Amino acid sequence: MNVCVLGGSGFVGTELVIRLVRAGHWVRVPTRSLARAEQLRVLDTVELSVANVHEPRVLSQLFAGCDAVVNLIGILNPRRGASFDMVHTELAAKVMAAARTAAVRRVLHMSALGADGQAPSRYLRSKAAAEARLRAPPHSEATRAEPGVTSFRPSVIFGPRDTLTNRFAELLRLTAGVLPLARARARFAPICVYDVAEAFLRALGMHASAGEIYELCGPEVMTLEEIVRLTARVARLPCRIVPLPDAIARLQGLVMGVLPGKPFTLDNFRSLSVDAVCRDDGCRRLGIIPQPMLAVLPAYL
Ligand SMILES: NC(=O)c1ccc[n+]([C@@H]2O[C@H](COP(=O)([O-])OP(=O)(O)OC[C@H]3O[C@@H](n4cnc5c(N)ncnc54)[C@H](OP(=O)(O)O)[C@@H]3O)[C@@H](O)[C@H]2O)c1
Repeated sequence: MNVCVLGGSGFVGTELVIRLVRAGHWVRVPTRSLARAEQLRVLDTVELSVANVHEPRVLSQLFAGCDAVVNLIGILNPRRGASFDMVHTELAAKVMAAARTAAVRRVLHMSALGADGQAPSRYLRSKAAAEARLRAPPHSEATRAEPGVTSFRPSVIFGPRDTLTNRFAELLRLTAGVLPLARARARFAPICVYDVAEAFLRALGMHASAGEIYELCGPEVMTLEEIVRLTARVARLPCRIVPLPDAIARLQGLVMGVLPGKPFTLDNFRSLSVDAVCRDDGCRRLGIIPQPMLAVLPAYL
């Protein structure tokens, strides 16, 4: 297949593009900066380009001749010129419109576990709004066959280059192991990036996955505190967690949210108030046995 992967330069995207290439597909990856996609340059059947994917005309050009489009673009926090609305919701609508124009057969979309119109955080609400835009009927009757849309809702994702275990390991090193932690009891089912990429690859080859939503979880339900402790153990770092009461954690979000790089925001705090655990076993439906953290962490931490 010819596949265009938006967000192909990112943590999940790089893993997926490598797998798509190995499976014999041709892959088109737009990025805002070629330097971000360094790892993909060596792959023969990857066409990298600098492109503004928010421009509908550019999207139509990118999708021309494609059998499938994957949208992995997402942000944890808005930045100047990149709101949740623009990057999640509006982009999803533009992807759908361009996919219709280019007669793309499949659209695979990355959402997040907990995406819901009533969710407490703007991140999760915008992810839900994006999914709704993908499933909204076309404005014009004159469109060709409707692309089959598949959505994925993973819990938190770990693996080499993640911003979860790598960031905690870095913080533990910086603070000699003392870590004040917001929402330490929040529950997750961490899933490995290899399993997430495999889920996309399998869905791409399954006609029956069109119209489906797959929740993706790893085999263990863990609290945030347990994830940090496991990270510390594998990386052989000291670890003393200080769970923060919610009122202080909120304050932490307010203060850190105005620091450069926004290491933690009030919206992140609100996302953490919803457990990221699956109600439906999307991995099983796709024939994937997800790996536990301990099977993967020692290879990169
Ligand atoms: N990582 C997790 O634990 C996790 C959990 C649940 C859901 N997700 C979702 O999974 C997807 C991929 O996550 P990830 O961890 O791989 O993210 P990532 O490493 O930060 O990659 C994000 C990608 O999006 C592109 N991007 C970011 N902001 C953009 C903007 N304003 N305009 C155009 N492109 C932009 C980047 O492209 P360039 O910089 O190359 O232009 C990059 O390829 C996201 O939708 C995320 O919400 C992630």
